[in-house]
Amino acid sequence: MARVNEHFLKLKAGYLFPEIGRRVAKFCGEHPEAHVIRLGIGDVTEPLPPAVVEAMHRAVDELASRDTFRGYGPEQGYEFLRSAIVEHAYQSRGVEVSPDEVFVSDGSKCDTGNILEIFGRENIVAITDPVYPVYVDTNVMAGRTGELDKSGRYEGLVYIPLTAENDFTPALPETRVDLIYLCYPNNPTGTVASRATLERWVDYARENGSIILFDAAYEPYITDPAIPHSIFEVEGARDVALEFRSFSKDAGFTGVRCAYTVIPKELSASLPDGGKQPLHPLWNRRHATKFNGTSYIVQRGAEAAFSPEGRRQVRALVDFYLANAKRLREGLEATGITVYGGVNAPYIWLKTPGGLSSWQFFDRLLERAHLVGTPGSGFGPSGEGYFRLSAFNSREIVEEAVERFQRALA
Ligand code: MLT
Repeated sequence: MARVNEHFLKLKAGYLFPEIGRRVAKFCGEHPEAHVIRLGIGDVTEPLPPAVVEAMHRAVDELASRDTFRGYGPEQGYEFLRSAIVEHAYQSRGVEVSPDEVFVSDGSKCDTGNILEIFGRENIVAITDPVYPVYVDTNVMAGRTGELDKSGRYEGLVYIPLTAENDFTPALPETRVDLIYLCYPNNPTGTVASRATLERWVDYARENGSIILFDAAYEPYITDPAIPHSIFEVEGARDVALEFRSFSKDAGFTGVRCAYTVIPKELSASLPDGGKQPLHPLWNRRHATKFNGTSYIVQRGAEAAFSPEGRRQVRALVDFYLANAKRLREGLEATGITVYGGVNAPYIWLKTPGGLSSWQFFDRLLERAHLVGTPGSGFGPSGEGYFRLSAFNSREIVEEAVERFQRALA
């Protein structure tokens, strides 16, 4: 009989967000009159920027005519988009990346999971804790871990705690690791990494032959001018890091789907004979074999996010969500709750009051205020006792949520 990939059976019962959805659906079934406000998953709510919509309409019209019709595009992305990315996301900040180092895709969630295919199974992987669950689950699926232990950690993974006690700054691991996921601005804590922190990690990777998988999906939310926007702003990072970026959280593409991964040509990993293998051709091979490119319409939309009016409109969207985050922060602080994040990120990370566990707080908030957030423990054991709120919503709903919080926690 055909065998399953048994590693899937090690996974916790469900992916975090479907589990939240299940609990909320149950609550709504039992309380059909309740108007539930969702500040759980980090999904955008505002419509696409007009410049993006217009570009996508034009692209549809091109495909509607025999003269301008296009079929398969380059798997790695159209040159027009790869060049626009380099110019606006990197060169504008003095970072050298060439267009052929940019691989356009349909999302960073897919990229952060798929990238594992080009790394050997024996690599030791470090994650910060709490962490975006995709990094953990995809390593479990790939067989790079043992079982889940009682503390909620998978054997074989190296967990680096991010807590209020260490100011949410990831300490270097005590044992050598090969692959390190860093996500900054951080999901879920909403905190940022200083240049000194990133330099420490790049130095560590250079000394230990490690590779940093840097997820910068929330980069547009950085407001502090001292914080690097890209790992490649750190000297020497091109030898030891690759970077994921996305159009989801700034241009509102969570449903449209477009992201990219930058793999510098210098970046190499070791071969069994001790030699070195550049990763760029491997990822290129993987991408071209398993992916037929992001749709032309979507890539034209993404390109338009970099046009002068597109940039203004995208900035306005990011500022809108940041103002929501500020409102949430201030509203919660007024109730005496300790709040982190929300200044350079669309996420608020709060300490649950009264020693409640993350899921106890989730249930209480749902029952008393009909509010949904994300339990910190769902992002890893060090998230226990914390809770995440997303600032992606309309202002009206954010205001209503703040009032409900204040009533429920008074
Ligand atoms: C989240 O809520 O953490 C995000 O929506 C996850 C994602 O972007 O996939």
